[in-house]
This record gives sequence, structure tokens and C-alpha cells, in this order.
Amino acid sequence: MPEVADRHELAGRVMLLTGAATGIGAALSAGLRAVGCHVVELDRVPLDAADDDALAGSRHRVVGDVTDPDANVEAVRLALREFGDLDGFIGNAGVHDGGVRVRDADPARLRDLTRTVLDVNVVGYVVGACAAAEAVTQAGGVMVFTLSDASYVVSGNGAGVAYAASKHAALGVVRSLAAQLAPAVRVNAVAPGGVVTPLSRVISDGGALERQQVYDNVADSVSGIRALNPLRTILTPDELVPHYLYLLTSQSTGLTGHVVRPDGGLSIA
Ligand SMILES: NC(=O)c1ccc[n+]([C@@H]2O[C@H](COP(=O)([O-])OP(=O)(O)OC[C@H]3O[C@@H](n4cnc5c(N)ncnc54)[C@H](O)[C@@H]3O)[C@@H](O)[C@H]2O)c1
Repeated sequence: MPEVADRHELAGRVMLLTGAATGIGAALSAGLRAVGCHVVELDRVPLDAADDDALAGSRHRVVGDVTDPDANVEAVRLALREFGDLDGFIGNAGVHDGGVRVRDADPARLRDLTRTVLDVNVVGYVVGACAAAEAVTQAGGVMVFTLSDASYVVSGNGAGVAYAASKHAALGVVRSLAAQLAPAVRVNAVAPGGVVTPLSRVISDGGALERQQVYDNVADSVSGIRALNPLRTILTPDELVPHYLYLLTSQSTGLTGHVVRPDGGLSIA
């Protein structure tokens, strides 16, 4: 019988992951720790005791905003101080615009909403990549970002102008980083179709941010997402994890500036 390797390639590697408190990021953090990664998370939501689980890899959380350079630098420093290396940066934190339509919007409110969504979804990725670039280069590591079907599809998917613009721009961030950081660092992305998570809807109201379910009725959203894609599927956050692991390991050697699109085939719909 051939020997089966029981140690995952990522065991002992150190990953910095943004937006890890809920949804796709929470599933990814657990998936990474299950294969033995040490995960340094950056999220505006603190860890609580209930988040403490017994997975192989360790978990640290810097509480801060992804648009804040100091918070990103602090997360990189924590990784280097605790583990000596940073093998990967995963930009994932994002906010939604609630699908606001321009004809229904007040111009000043839409301006504020658009600025906030671009700030988190685009500036957050740029600032995080900048803070991590040197350490990840030294480690010969990788970067992976969460894009969206909204990086390509502009109607029928619940995205408004601000969210679509941010995810189109984030595609540019990924491609530009891939060019700048080659040959030391591969930079790729996962662009899921609709996934039911508590994706933060940002409502700009005198500067206050309000967190809500994107969809008031989860059953309606599930059937709506299914109806849109040829595979009639809706992936869970856990089902997305293998796509990230693929891009983080040598299984994807030779790929950079590439986007894996687990969207049920929206691109051919
Ligand atoms: N849910 C979907 O249908 C879907 C589809 C495609 C892409 N995405 C993308 O997946 C990513 C994760 O979204 P999700 O669906 O898991 O949503 P989510 O709301 O469950 O997770 C977002 C995470 O980011 C954190 N976050 C948000 N703004 C932040 C900030 N300024 N600073 C620090 N942390 C911040 C939140 O606290 C949360 O932990 C996003 O980039 C989103 O655009 C989601």
C-alpha cells in the first residue's frame, strides 16, 4: 500500500485573513485551521468565548477596520512576532450596498454609500496587500482575494452600482497585484455567486453604519439565486473553502491573476 501523507501542505503556515467573524471568512478560517494553519484574523468584530474551537491551527484576532493602515500593519506584526513568517494574505472583508437603485436614491446618500463600499471593498484590499507584501514576498507566499459574481454580472444579482463598481475594481486590484508581485508571490481570487451569509449591508445615514441581513427572506433569496444560475445551485460558505485551499497551495502552481468562479455557471447564463 502506498503511504498516504497525513500532513496537509498548509500545516504550520501562517495566513492573515480579513473579514473572518462571519460568513465566508468564518468558514475559511475554520477550514484553514482544520488543516493546521495559524490564522491571524483582522475584523471589526471581536472574538468571543463561543468562537473558541479546538482545531489543529491557532487563531488570533486583531480588532480593527480593514481601511485602517495601522490595523493591517498590526496584524502583519502579530503574525511575524508569533510565528516568524507570513505565508499568505487573504483579503475577504466586504460590505454590500443593499442593491440601492439610482432612480430611488438621494444623490448625497448614494455618494456616502458608494464611498463606504469602495473604501471597504477596494481600499481595504489595497491597504492590506500593501501592509503584507514585504512579509509575504519574503516567505515566497500567496495572496487570495474574495471577488464576486458582481465583478462581472451587473443585473439580476441584487447588487447596486456601488457594490458592482467595488467588485469590478477589486478585480483590477487582483490583476495589478499579480503583475507587481510576480515572480515571488502568486495573486488569485475566488468569485462566488450568491451565498447566504449575513453580508453586511451598509446604509449611510449621518455616518452611522447599520448591519442587516441583505435578504429579509432567506427562502426567497435561495430560490432567487438558484433560478439565476444554470446549475440551479447555491453554495454554502463551507463549500467555498476548497476553492481557496486550491489557490493557497502548490496545486495551483502556475496560476496568477486568475479568478476561480464557483457561481453555478452564471458566466454562461
Ligand atoms: N454572500 C454572498 O453572496 C457573496 C457573494 C460573492 C462574494 N461575496 C464576498 O464575500 C466576502 C465575505 O462576505 P460574506 O458574504 O461572508 O459576508 P459577511 O458579512 O458574513 O462577512 C463579512 C466580514 O467582514 C467583516 N467586515 C466588514 N467590513 C469590515 C471592515 N471595514 N473592517 C473589518 N472587517 C469588516 C465583517 O465583520 C464580517 O466578519 C465579501 O468580500 C463579499 O463581497 C459574498
